[in-house]
Amino acid sequence: MPKGSITERTYIMVKPDGVQRGLVGEIMARFEKRGYKLIALKMRTADEALLKKHYCDLVEKPFFPSLLSFMTSGPVVSMVWEGLDAVKQGRQMLGETNPLASKPGSIRGDFCIDMGKNICHGSDSVESAENEIALWFTPEEVLKYDQTRAAHIY
Ligand code: TYD
Repeated sequence: MPKGSITERTYIMVKPDGVQRGLVGEIMARFEKRGYKLIALKMRTADEALLKKHYCDLVEKPFFPSLLSFMTSGPVVSMVWEGLDAVKQGRQMLGETNPLASKPGSIRGDFCIDMGKNICHGSDSVESAENEIALWFTPEEVLKYDQTRAAHIY
């Protein structure tokens, strides 16, 4: 294990453009194959009140009305992934906020070019991850299970 790496949880969300373009499976597969563990999953169309809480740092920004209209335009898929350095690695897997600055191999670098439609969200710190998980899920919806036992059930 790299020095300083700890098990974390991160909130990852496929935005309406990612759902509409059929990229949910692709994004989930990348986290699964990397070795992260899915511990919560939900699909819903978010409303303005929820998004104002989620993007509370951005409500005064000039682009917020268009962000709100985009984010309420269709369902999103909310997930919690757990594993070593999940927050930092999750951001790296997503790429930069601006897809044009995102490296090929990242989700944004591979699938989009428009900052206003950048497919996915990932928590930017452990603290925001915990806040976002609590905002999008109830405690009961975030599961605890032993992944290594799954192969022995049958
Ligand atoms: P932000 O939280 O800064 O980025 P990230 O999603 O990478 O954590 O911004 C939230 C979203 O707002 C971002 O994914 C796309 C949108 N956005 C714009 O449309 N224009 C902008 O200038 C910025 C900074 C963000």
